[in-house]
Amino acid sequence: MWPFSRYHRRDIPQSYKPVVLVTGCSNGIGLELAHLLYNEHPEYRVVATAREKSIQKLHDQFLENDRFMIYPLDVTKEEERKELINHVNKTWGGVDILVNNAGISYRSVIEHMTAKDELLQMETNYLGPMGLIRRVLPYMRETGRGKIINVSSVAGMLAMPTMSSYSASKYALEGASESLWYEMRPFGVQVSLIQPGFVNSNSFQNVYHSELSDPAHNWDGPYCDFYQNMTPFVAKMMRMSRSSAHKIAKLIIKTIKTENPSLWIPATLDATMFYYIRRLLPRRILLPVLYWFLPNAKHWGKRHTNRR
Ligand SMILES: NC(=O)c1ccc[n+]([C@@H]2O[C@H](COP(=O)([O-])OP(=O)(O)OC[C@H]3O[C@@H](n4cnc5c(N)ncnc54)[C@H](OP(=O)(O)O)[C@@H]3O)[C@@H](O)[C@H]2O)c1
Repeated sequence: MWPFSRYHRRDIPQSYKPVVLVTGCSNGIGLELAHLLYNEHPEYRVVATAREKSIQKLHDQFLENDRFMIYPLDVTKEEERKELINHVNKTWGGVDILVNNAGISYRSVIEHMTAKDELLQMETNYLGPMGLIRRVLPYMRETGRGKIINVSSVAGMLAMPTMSSYSASKYALEGASESLWYEMRPFGVQVSLIQPGFVNSNSFQNVYHSELSDPAHNWDGPYCDFYQNMTPFVAKMMRMSRSSAHKIAKLIIKTIKTENPSLWIPATLDATMFYYIRRLLPRRILLPVLYWFLPNAKHWGKRHTNRR
């Protein structure tokens, strides 16, 4: 299965090094993946990307060479997506494996989000990845091989309070990837969704807030209990998790190397558990059961409503 079994076809030279493009390499899972590809997988050529403001972090940790390229990419910017893919096509022929990893997560109830916040969430986690996919597919289709690996989340199978927009973006990614799986099957292009649940990492600190959900503002008002309970709850679950960004990155490498990976790949124990909970619990009791597990949920908002 080295390095990507489809390359063992007789018409492809054994020395061919598939090109892997990873988004969001400045931190977390993307950075771990870049390190693994750089240090342990010389059988691939790598395009490690990060936003202009974070690109120096990559130059500080990696040396560019004939198999490792660092390139700026803000996934929300069409011009940057176009320039990057044109550059890779010109330099190395095309992208064989695309890992859509870059992502952000808003912590906000729906009422506190603005249209601009919603758009940024969707542009980063859904519209940007779709734009990149559209640019790499022609080469993959023509060559009759390739892999699209989208980093999704448990939030793409179950939604939680204060994470609606993040969940919506991951549900969108999941739905589109499922369609793409069918559309690409005749062309030999494989599509997978990596689904991490809680990961023990510092990415919790990178959470985005809308103006109204900002901790500086939300310590009073009808939703303060939601934030005051959900924020430490999520932080605790992440701290307790036995999964790390490194483990998720290793799973992505395994997916790259697997000949026919599944569309859905749960990446943490809780992801597997939530998958079965979603499928096995009768619909009528699914939400009440999960609600019961949320910290103090039955008291949320009590001081701010006349409902008794
Ligand atoms: N960690 C978890 O618990 C967890 C759980 C489930 C799913 N996931 C998913 O896993 C993926 C990676 O998350 P992570 O935990 O590694 O998060 P992270 O540590 O916050 O890293 C996110 C990366 O995405 C980049 N990014 C954000 N907006 C971008 C944009 N517009 N263009 C290009 N890059 C951008 C960030 O770059 P900057 O440094 O420039 O901001 C950073 O490198 C995400 O898709 C996330 O939704 C994570």
